[in-house]
Amino acid sequence: MSCMNAQDAGEAANTLTEGLTRVAGSYRALFEGAADEHALREQNAKVLGPHGELTQLLKLMRHVDKSQRRELGQRSNALKTEISTFFDETLVAFQKRAREAELSAPHLDPTLPARGHGVGRLHPITRIKHELLDIFQSLGFDVADGPEIDLHENCFEKLGFPPDHPAADMQDTFFVKSTQAGHDVDTVLRTHTSTVQVREMLKRKPPLAIVAPGAVYRRDDDSTHSPMFFQLEGLLVDRDVTFAELKGVLTLFLQRVFGSDTEVRFRPSYFPFVEPGGEVDVRRPGGDWMEILGCGMVHPAVFENVGYDPNEWSGFAFGLGLDRIAMVKYGVPNIKALYENDVRFLSSF
Ligand code: DAH
Repeated sequence: MSCMNAQDAGEAANTLTEGLTRVAGSYRALFEGAADEHALREQNAKVLGPHGELTQLLKLMRHVDKSQRRELGQRSNALKTEISTFFDETLVAFQKRAREAELSAPHLDPTLPARGHGVGRLHPITRIKHELLDIFQSLGFDVADGPEIDLHENCFEKLGFPPDHPAADMQDTFFVKSTQAGHDVDTVLRTHTSTVQVREMLKRKPPLAIVAPGAVYRRDDDSTHSPMFFQLEGLLVDRDVTFAELKGVLTLFLQRVFGSDTEVRFRPSYFPFVEPGGEVDVRRPGGDWMEILGCGMVHPAVFENVGYDPNEWSGFAFGLGLDRIAMVKYGVPNIKALYENDVRFLSSF
């Protein structure tokens, strides 16, 4: 047990007395000067907390002489009560002030609709694709699909392009090196969706009627040609199909897309996989003729290449550019605009 002498006890009493006076004189300003509730609580802790000034001072109490202890003890307790009462009052005042500030601030209306999130919509080419598929499905055509990288022979030879024939130059493309089961195979980024004709006929027995939309690739690159664009291929195979069916189906289709008052014109043209082959133009009242698709009666050689008997089966095929239809229908002057993904442009349709 420490043995305190009279001088030490006196010093403790003095320090304590001075301390109580100092704290009593300063706490109000500190509390009132706090910026917010958090700061107020911090100031309170600096006085009354476990390491607070008053708490530290009270540790001197045990060194104070008995004769003074009662009086100093009462003063200390009174000050402690006074401070915590003032803290409570100040806290209430702070909270009231904060609440009032909140109530007088600009009104928050949680029922207002959210800002800035426009609803997305389908790309014009996708919309055209859906529209065309709807028309052909209503006529009984199935939707078929094929890969964008396909065998060179599905893209050319099986469709009647002789090997290295200059006709293939009409569709110059990107060649892709591929291996299948350890062998090098000639593959290309398909130049047209006509590859799907070959694939479907190799897969299925006639009769059949399919349409196949998809991306195709060529070296062309100008305001009306993009190195990647979209086509839709059609193929119908049955017994005794004539050019009359071809004309009937395509006329009906084009008038559904562009309007029933649209004129449709068939012109002879050459594609290796059809005979006869043609191109079709459309004209809106008062407008100019626009070339819109290629078509023809399936060439007997193509039937032979896929194992169909050309004496038993006949059919017609056609191919069109979805981009082209989108450009004509929506009045898009430059095909590139469809691929730049500028939302300001795309959302104008
Ligand atoms: N494949 C042709 C092209 O890309 C379009 C085409 C023409 C498709 C005539 C056909 C067709 O099926 O019969 O230019």
